[in-house]
Amino acid sequence: MEAPIGVFDSGVGGLTVVREIVRQLPNENVIYFGDTARVPYGSKSKDTVLKFSRQIVRFLMTKNVKAIVVACNTASALALEDMRDELSVPVIGVVRPGAKMAADVTETKNVGVIATDATIKSHIYNDYIRQLNPDITVVGKACPLFVPLVEEGLLEDRITDDMVDRYLSEMKQYNVDALVLGCTHYPLLINPIKRYMGDKVTLVNPAYETAKELKTLLEANSLLNKDSKKASYNFYVSDGVDKFKVFADKVLPINVNDVNVVDIESY
Ligand code: DGL
Repeated sequence: MEAPIGVFDSGVGGLTVVREIVRQLPNENVIYFGDTARVPYGSKSKDTVLKFSRQIVRFLMTKNVKAIVVACNTASALALEDMRDELSVPVIGVVRPGAKMAADVTETKNVGVIATDATIKSHIYNDYIRQLNPDITVVGKACPLFVPLVEEGLLEDRITDDMVDRYLSEMKQYNVDALVLGCTHYPLLINPIKRYMGDKVTLVNPAYETAKELKTLLEANSLLNKDSKKASYNFYVSDGVDKFKVFADKVLPINVNDVNVVDIESY
């Protein structure tokens, strides 16, 4: 089916999910919305994130999307379950695929989760992982300064190494052998985090797991695009087109020329 997949995030971070969709599902057309005017979601309340997410879904539905990916961990944690029954197309978030992978790979049964404040406070990773295996202990840690570090492009920098040390030192004490990068921006810090945690810790990238699960979902619903025409990618934001383009060019393996502004409050 040629209809696009709708993907949304609080801003630019969800492009790490688009990157995996481009790699794993190269035939699929994508409509992306980044709520760059209202980012961050990670410090906002459930009511606000739910209201914003509903507006974005209404916008995506006007583009006749065949499925929706909530590419934001915070929106997946706070809004997805409330919206699921309201939707006429299949929807997936990034939290459940990441939680499943973590539960699968841990041997010490100690899993670390790093994410925004709101995602950690929601306990959603904890709940999903322990539903899969109640013997697992989940250690959560909010790392709020990682998002601005990534957005400033400080992926390899002394300040970033210092922050990794400060946020992740307790993960070492808990003997975790799987660490979920539970925020859209964190996969871009995979190198400093890997250096710090060492080879024995598996870093779980929910963006990668989500694209895999999206493929399964599309197959199960006979929604895969069988057309071999070059896939199209359309990007929408609520503000800051130029900044978005710069970030997108760094993250995506495709050229991002066309970015449009949407008055998301009107949806
Ligand atoms: N996209 C958000 C997430 O994955 C991070 C940025 C924000 O706080 O909005 O949780």
